[in-house]
Amino acid sequence: MQEMLAAGHAVYQQFLNLAVWAKTNPGMGSLWRSGHELCFIWKKGTAPHINNIELGRNGRNRSNVWSYSGANAFARAGNPDSREHVTPKNVAMIQDAILDVSRRGDIVLDVFAGSGTTLVAAHRAKRRGYGLDIDPFYVDLAVRRMERCTRAPARHAETGLTFAEMAEQRGIVLPPRSRRT
Ligand SMILES: C[S@@+](CC[C@H](N)C(=O)[O-])C[C@H]1O[C@@H](n2cnc3c(N)ncnc32)[C@H](O)[C@@H]1O
Repeated sequence: MQEMLAAGHAVYQQFLNLAVWAKTNPGMGSLWRSGHELCFIWKKGTAPHINNIELGRNGRNRSNVWSYSGANAFARAGNPDSREHVTPKNVAMIQDAILDVSRRGDIVLDVFAGSGTTLVAAHRAKRRGYGLDIDPFYVDLAVRRMERCTRAPARHAETGLTFAEMAEQRGIVLPPRSRRT
């Protein structure tokens, strides 16, 4: 928490709220099983922030305690993402957070995209997801997940090649496709 607050205060203008992901299926832990994760909500810039909740006026009645299942339930349900990423986030939870504070067509950026949960959630919320990841493994994973999600081939911006064509060109054998997003 100290590190997050120090880093956030250095680059953002305001610490708006602390939301808690209350997992309906607590994970492992040493003393107590780990049942929550903290979500620090920061504001960049000084313009009024988007608030699609406004105490329920827009049909969204939400608190800062977000009750959604964690990775274990996904694993039990056979979700392939839980095998592909150590800490998969709940897509519905991210989608709800996006709906709370952005407008249709807005850009949603995740600079630690991992397996692409934020990108999937942004797409479902009719926003435009932008993602970065330092690890090519996760970039590939997120691209393939988005292909399944959008049912459209990803295209390399510079060459126009699809992901599959690029893999073939590079002599890479792609693992079989999964139908889950
Ligand atoms: C916990 S995962 C992200 C999970 C994802 N945001 C989600 O909600 O499912 C963290 C990711 O950050 C990536 N990462 C770590 N350091 C990075 C850096 N300096 N720049 C970009 N990505 C980085 C890792 O490769 C990893 O895939």
